[in-house]
Amino acid sequence: MINYKDLGLVNTRDMFAKAMKGNYAIPAFNFNNMEQLQAIIQACVETESPVILQVSKGARSYANQTLLRYLAQGAVEYAREIGGGDKVIPICLHLDHGDSFETCKSCIEFGFSSVMIDGSSKPFAENIAETKKVVDFAHQFDVTVEGELGVLAGVEDDVQAEEHTYTRPEEVQAFLAGTSVDSLAISIGTSHGAYKFKPGTNPKIRLDILAEIEQKIPGFPIVLHGSSSVPQDIVAQINSFGGKLKDAIGIGEDQLREAAKSAVCKINIDSDGRLAMTGAIRKVFAEKPAEFDPRKYLGPARDALKELYKHKCINVLGSAGHAFDK
Ligand code: G3H
Ligand code: 13P
Ligand code: ZN
Repeated sequence: MINYKDLGLVNTRDMFAKAMKGNYAIPAFNFNNMEQLQAIIQACVETESPVILQVSKGARSYANQTLLRYLAQGAVEYAREIGGGDKVIPICLHLDHGDSFETCKSCIEFGFSSVMIDGSSKPFAENIAETKKVVDFAHQFDVTVEGELGVLAGVEDDVQAEEHTYTRPEEVQAFLAGTSVDSLAISIGTSHGAYKFKPGTNPKIRLDILAEIEQKIPGFPIVLHGSSSVPQDIVAQINSFGGKLKDAIGIGEDQLREAAKSAVCKINIDSDGRLAMTGAIRKVFAEKPAEFDPRKYLGPARDALKELYKHKCINVLGSAGHAFDK
């Protein structure tokens, strides 16, 4: 058993309490490799933002969970080193879309400080029972747990849901009472991936449902998945260097900024980072076709990712400058 506290990591409790009070949201950025991790830590150290490092099931099978955990552990030292002082930004290591009690348990025993148990596709009573089982185990080690109610459209855990099933505000109190989760992911029109809205439709999320949920559970931390904005300049860059992304549409940054001021305390972003890296790599390949040193294209990709994440912390989530709040 490795306890995350021995690795210098933190859970989400204090992060969310401060985010709620300060009207901002904590960035939850996914990582699968060293360059992504470096970009996240550089961006968050430079903007003085707390951060949640997210590892999905796909990331664990791509990179190996031992390597990922050592990277996250190294991230604490790395943040201290590049921060140039004694203080280190709060870093949480979180399991994204945990699919079972066993997966969550293994991550908790492996040094994760926070886990998501995603029972959103299960019937309500089963979701409660499974989430509660994870909470009972996790809380023994002061690991925080995110649950989910409602189903996002798009691909989630290799399952394609055609339509959103919005979270029902009338169910949230019973879910919290039955599970004792620390935060709740909700479905209000965000979705995973780069194709969130059909062209010609109204690209808006349901902030009215969010407001209704907040009324039912005031002061409780809410999580938004599927919150990439799919920046159109990056899509254009990819396409101008040979890419073929058609009708890629994301969530407007103004809507996310609005949500971050409410009880939304955690905003998940992965696809935007994938786009930024792809744009930078395509540019190098198109402009310097003789280049074959991976550092010469992964380096620019890392820089593009860092700039994107700095922008998110400063202008979208509002988390910049809050790392050392008392
Ligand atoms: O929720 C999905 C995240 O973007 C992780 O994606 O399962 O392809 O690693 P992944
Ligand atoms: P995006 O695909 O919108 O970046 O969402 C990521 C996410 O929700 C990870 O859990
Ligand atoms: Zn997600």
